[in-house]
Amino acid sequence: MSATTDVTAIVEQAVQRARPALQGRKVVLGVAGGIAAYKAAELVRLLVRAGAQVRVVMTKAATEFIGPLTLQSLSSRPVVQTLFDLHQEATIGHIDLADWAELFVVAPATADVIARLAQGLADDVLTTVALASRAPLLLAPSMNVNMWNHAATRANVGTLLARGVLSAGPGAGELACGWVGDGRMAEPLDILAAAVDALGVRSLAGREVLVTAGPTHEPLDPVRYIGNRSTGKMGYAVAAEAARRGASVVLISGPTSLAAPPGVTRVDVTTAAQLRDAVLARCDAADVVVMAAAVADERPAVVAPQKLKKNGAPRPLVLEATVDVLAELGSRTYPARRPTLVGFAAETERVVEHAEGKRAKKHADLVVANDVSATDAGFGSDDNRVVLVSAAGADTLPLMTKAQVAARIWDAVERLRG
Ligand code: CTP
Repeated sequence: MSATTDVTAIVEQAVQRARPALQGRKVVLGVAGGIAAYKAAELVRLLVRAGAQVRVVMTKAATEFIGPLTLQSLSSRPVVQTLFDLHQEATIGHIDLADWAELFVVAPATADVIARLAQGLADDVLTTVALASRAPLLLAPSMNVNMWNHAATRANVGTLLARGVLSAGPGAGELACGWVGDGRMAEPLDILAAAVDALGVRSLAGREVLVTAGPTHEPLDPVRYIGNRSTGKMGYAVAAEAARRGASVVLISGPTSLAAPPGVTRVDVTTAAQLRDAVLARCDAADVVVMAAAVADERPAVVAPQKLKKNGAPRPLVLEATVDVLAELGSRTYPARRPTLVGFAAETERVVEHAEGKRAKKHADLVVANDVSATDAGFGSDDNRVVLVSAAGADTLPLMTKAQVAARIWDAVERLRG
C-alpha cells in the first residue's frame, strides 16, 4: 500500500466513525483570520463527507487567507461574511442561523476571536452568531506561541472553558510564524473527532428530562439562610450530557454560580419548597427525573420578616421537615407513565448500604451514591467517585470527571429503560 492509499484509508475510517454522530446534524463553522484558515477547507470537506450540513461564517480577516468561494463550493451553501449578508437572505438571519446550529465550531480560533468571545462581544458576524447561539461551542485555537501563553489569552481561554466551551488543541510544533511551541491548530481529523464528541449520538432524542441541581437555601430572615456545600457541578454535568444526547432538558437549579449548559432550559429556585413546586409542575411530562440537588431536609419553622438583631434569633432554633421530593415522585401516581427516577445519595459511611436503603425507601430506579467525606472528589470538585446502585446491584466506578460520571449515569439510565 502506498503512503497516499494509507492516508486515504485513515481519512475514510475517520469519516465512517463520525457518521453516526454527524449524519444530518447542523454545524456552523466560524473561520477567523489566521494562517490556519486554509485548513478550514479540509474541515468543511470532512464534516460534509460525514453527513453534516455545514454553514460557514467568515470574519473579514479570514477572507484574506482563504477565498469564500472555496468554502462555499465545499459546503454547497453561501458563505456568510457580514451581518448584511444575513439580512439579504430571506430565509436566515443571524438569530435564525444561531438557532439552526447544533454545534458552532470556530477553526481557526485566533487570539483576537477568543478574546472577543470571552468578552461576549458581538462586533462581527462570527461573534454575533456565537453570542446568539445556544449550541455547544468548539474552538480550535491557532496562534503564535507567545500569544497563546500570554496572560490575557490564558485568562480568556480559562473564562471560556469555565463557561463550558470545548476546545480541540492547540498542538505543539513548528508554527507558521517560524516559532516552535504550542499554538498550532489541531488537525482537521482531530477537530472532526472533537465535533463527534461534542454532538454525541442522539440516544435521548425526543425524551423529556428533568434535572435538579445545587443546594437549597432555607431562610431564617431576609439576610440569613441555612444552606449546604453543594455547588451544582454534578447536576449541571448530568443536564449537559442529557442535552448532548438530544433530550429536551429542564434544569431546576438552586443558587449556584454556574452558567446553564448549552441547549438546557434553566429554572431558578431558592428553597426546597420552590424546588418541589417546580418539579411537580413538570414531572408528568418527564421521561426521566434526576434529583441531583442537595435539597434541605429541614428548614426554620419561623422565618423572621425583618433582619434578626444580635441575640434575637429564637433559641433553640426550631426546624421543621421539608417534603422529600424524590420520595414523593416515587410514590405518586402519574396520568400517563411514571418517569425513570434517579436519586443521589450523599454519604459519609456505609455508602452502598445507605444508598440501597434510600433507593428502596424512595422507590427510585437508580441511586448515584458518593462518599462526600472524600477529599479528592465530591463537593465543589470537578471529579467524583460514585457507585451506581440499581435493582441489578452496585456498580463501583473509579475516580473520573463529573462529565464522565454524567455519561455513565445516562448509559445506566438508557440500559434501565431498555
Ligand atoms: N431529596 C429530595 N428531597 C429532600 C431531600 C432529599 O428529593 N427533601 C433527594 C435528593 O435530591 C437526593 C436524594 O433525595 O436525590 C437523597 O438525598 P440525601 O441528602 O443523600 O439523603 P436524605 O434522603 O436527605 O437522607 P439523609 O440526609 O438522612 O442521608
